[in-house]
Amino acid sequence: MALAKPSNKPSNPNFSSGPCAKRPGWELSVLKNTPIGRSHRSTECKDRLKQAIVKSKQILKLPDSYSLAIMTGSNTGALEAAMWSLLGCKGVDVLAWENFGKDWVIDVLEQLKIENVNSYVSDYGKLPDLSKVNFKNDVIFTWNGTTAGVRVPDAKWIPDDREGLTICDATSGIFAMDIDFNKLDAISWSWQKVLGAEAAHGMLALSPRALKRLETYTPEWPIPKLFKLANKKKVIKGVFEGSTINTPSMICVEDVLDSLSWVESVGGTKELIKISNENLKIVENWVNNSDWVKFMCADKNTRSSTSITLLIKDGWFNKFSEEEQRNVIKKIVLTLDKEGVAKDIIGYPKAPPSLRLWGGATVQNNDMKALLPWLDWAYHTVKNNV
Ligand SMILES: Cc1ncc(COP(=O)(O)O)c(C=O)c1O
Repeated sequence: MALAKPSNKPSNPNFSSGPCAKRPGWELSVLKNTPIGRSHRSTECKDRLKQAIVKSKQILKLPDSYSLAIMTGSNTGALEAAMWSLLGCKGVDVLAWENFGKDWVIDVLEQLKIENVNSYVSDYGKLPDLSKVNFKNDVIFTWNGTTAGVRVPDAKWIPDDREGLTICDATSGIFAMDIDFNKLDAISWSWQKVLGAEAAHGMLALSPRALKRLETYTPEWPIPKLFKLANKKKVIKGVFEGSTINTPSMICVEDVLDSLSWVESVGGTKELIKISNENLKIVENWVNNSDWVKFMCADKNTRSSTSITLLIKDGWFNKFSEEEQRNVIKKIVLTLDKEGVAKDIIGYPKAPPSLRLWGGATVQNNDMKALLPWLDWAYHTVKNNV
C-alpha cells in the first residue's frame, strides 16, 4: 500500500545518536568569544575550564564530595582512565548488553588481564540479571546502552554498603535520565551526547571512595599519561580544578559552556528528562499503532528514552537474509536523508538490522512528532519498490 508523502518536515533533521543534534537555536556565533590562540594555562582559559566543571556539578547536582575532571578522548578516554587507574586490587564484575559495554569487557579481560572476573553479557534488547552482581568486586556497567536502546531501570540494585567501586559509563543517559549518583563511584560522559556539544573531551566524576582508592593503591600495569589521575598515591588535584592533563580545545570548552547555559535556561536536568521522556512517549504511541515496527527493547522499564531503537516486525521484511534486511534499512534511511527529513538514523552496524532515533533533549518533541509519518511513508515506499 502506497502512502501519501507527508508535508510537514522536522525543523531539524538531525537524529544522530552521537554526535547529537545541537541545542535549539545554536549557531556558530556562540563561539565568538572563545579565547582562541591563548594558552590553556592562562587565567582566562583556566577560568572557563573551571566553569565547565563547576556548572556541570551544579546542574547535575553531583554530591559536593565528588570531584569532577575534564578528560581527553571523550567518554572513552574518561572511562578508560577510571578503569586503568582504579582497577586491579579486587575482582571485577562487568556487565554488557550492547557494543560499548562489550568493549569494556574486552578492556578488563584482554587489556588489563584481570583474573577474577565475572562477566554478564546479554543479547541486544535485554539487560543481564542485575541480581547476580557481586558487589564485593568492582563493578563496571553502562547506564544506557546506546546501540541497543536498553538502560538500567534505576540504581536500586546497587547496595549503599558495597565493598567494591561502581564504575559507570553514563554517556548517553546523563542529563536526560534520573541517576542516583550516590550509588556510583566513577561516572563518565562526553559533551557530544545529551548536551549536543562537541566530542573530543569527556568528564569523569569520582566519589570519595574512588578518590581514596587512588590514594591507597597503585595498579601494577603501566598508566598512560593521558589517564593519570594520581602520582605516587597522591591525587593530582589540579586535574579536578581545570588544569587538564594535556591541551584541551577551548572552542569545545566554549561550546559546552553554551550548552550548559542552555540547560539552565530551560530549567535544568528536570526539564531535559521531561523532553526526552516525551520523545519516547511520542514514539511509543506510534509504535503501538504500527503494523511494521517494534522496539528492540520489549521491556518498558528498561527502554531508553535517548537511543530509541527499532526493529522491523513486518513478515515481508523478516523473510529476507540479514544482508538483504540491512539493504532495505539503508534504502529507508537514504530516502529520508534525501528528503532532508532525518539524518543518521541507521542502527549501529554491529547491532541487529535496526533504526535508531535519538530522543535526547536537544531533539524537540515537535520534530520527533513530525518525523514519524515520514518513517511510515519511507518504509512503505521502499517495500513497494523492492
Ligand atoms: C555507551 C557509550 N559508551 C561509549 C561511547 C563512546 O563514546 P566517545 O566516542 O564519546 O568516546 C559511546 C558513544 O556513542 C556510547 O554510547
